[in-house]
Amino acid sequence: TYLDNGKLVNWDGKMDEVHSTISTSSEYKPTLLGTVPHMDEPTALGVLNSAVNAYDKGKGDWPTMRVKERIDCMKSFVKHMQTKRTEVVKLLMWEIGKTLPDSEKEFDRTVQYIYDTIDDYKQLDRDSAKFEKIDGINAHIRRGPLGVVLCLGPYNYPLNETFALLIPALMMGNTAVFKPAKHGVLLLSPLLEAFQKSFPAGVINVIYGRGREVAAPIMKTGKIDVLALIGNSTSAIALQDQHPYKNRLRLILGLEAKNPAIILPDADLDLAIEECINGSLSYNGQRCTALKIIYVHDKIKEEFNERFSKRVDELKFGQPWEEGVKLTPLPEPNKPAYIKELIDDAKEKGAKILNKKGGTVTDNYIYPAVLYPVNESMRVYQEEQFGPVVPIKSFNDTQELLDEMARSNYGQQVSLFGKNVDTLAPLIDVLVNLVCRVNLNSSCQRGPDVLPFTGRKDSAVGTLSVHDALRSFSIRTFLASKDN
Ligand code: G3H
Repeated sequence: TYLDNGKLVNWDGKMDEVHSTISTSSEYKPTLLGTVPHMDEPTALGVLNSAVNAYDKGKGDWPTMRVKERIDCMKSFVKHMQTKRTEVVKLLMWEIGKTLPDSEKEFDRTVQYIYDTIDDYKQLDRDSAKFEKIDGINAHIRRGPLGVVLCLGPYNYPLNETFALLIPALMMGNTAVFKPAKHGVLLLSPLLEAFQKSFPAGVINVIYGRGREVAAPIMKTGKIDVLALIGNSTSAIALQDQHPYKNRLRLILGLEAKNPAIILPDADLDLAIEECINGSLSYNGQRCTALKIIYVHDKIKEEFNERFSKRVDELKFGQPWEEGVKLTPLPEPNKPAYIKELIDDAKEKGAKILNKKGGTVTDNYIYPAVLYPVNESMRVYQEEQFGPVVPIKSFNDTQELLDEMARSNYGQQVSLFGKNVDTLAPLIDVLVNLVCRVNLNSSCQRGPDVLPFTGRKDSAVGTLSVHDALRSFSIRTFLASKDN
């Protein structure tokens, strides 16, 4: 089924099969987990019309609804959602190979995100209720919706990042058409009913299928006011290009990143190594916030490289529910081959694999390779690997390193490891202008979700987080009246 205009519609056309990422046999034998509609263009356009009609150019019931009623819908949704925890957590493990603790965390974090959004929205509304008096004008400022949102979620956080877009969009009075990513697509099914029961018809609609067959035609109609996407720049640009009135289109995009760790000579190496292990390899490095390159100072490179590589080989590979498992199979079937290409390219250009198990391929898995020394000519240096390979480059001069980082196309976050405040302070002053978050003696991450999440250059457009997303998905409007 898909969700259109408040109805769960049975799709009687072609179906796409969804297979598991994990299997319980010793070699990978995917299980058929379920099927989803391979939707066609006319159906997708029909669903779009439901969102357009519910918005009704800003005159619809949802965009004009009183704050309290919209909050009630949101509360009803999160309550229904909470009853589906076991099912969704299981699907996160089977469909995308996320470990049990990480799957549970993703679910609970999403629930919390919704409650925090409700609280922040109440605050926003209270603040808006105040009159501002400026030059004899009483201005009653309020935040209004932007219109119809096309929302596309990623496979690595199919629940949490989807909802980090959808929830603030809906909370602010927009209506939406949502298309999940190819992997992590089934776990939305248990929630369709929760959407249906909690929101008025047409406010949230869910489609399935290929981007070029359903999302592109939707963009082509010119009826989309906001493109909200977490994924890659290629898809984001291709979709924007379809829109006939580009100036009308708002963008909220979470894109690629190549977050570096910088290890200074006085860094606490025990701490830096553990943070870099988690930063580069939790969920197999399939996080936009993952550390995707490590810059280590010449003075400590031997010790760091040796200890870090040893730690990588100690990581436990297994099924997501097994105790202590860090590394799990990869949902994208072509990922091991892609990572292998990056490794081979780096080796041809002079890098070595430092860890014994690095680059070993088994079925739909490739053991993380630590590559050293990498340089700018290598693909692993230029591309966002989004998988288990850790490139390391050494440096001697911090000014040269900053110049090198300034040449990057990305600008999300950086991790900086060191102790001496006199060395750290001037570095931080520059780094905050190259990226949007500097993590001191800790790995990069998106949370806590109340902090702004964004990036410079090709890494993001607009800002997410509980607080910022409500603002990103709305516009300040006001009623002006004169004193009399
Ligand atoms: O893939 C990008 C995610 O926003 C990463 O989130 O840092 O909480 O794992 P995280």
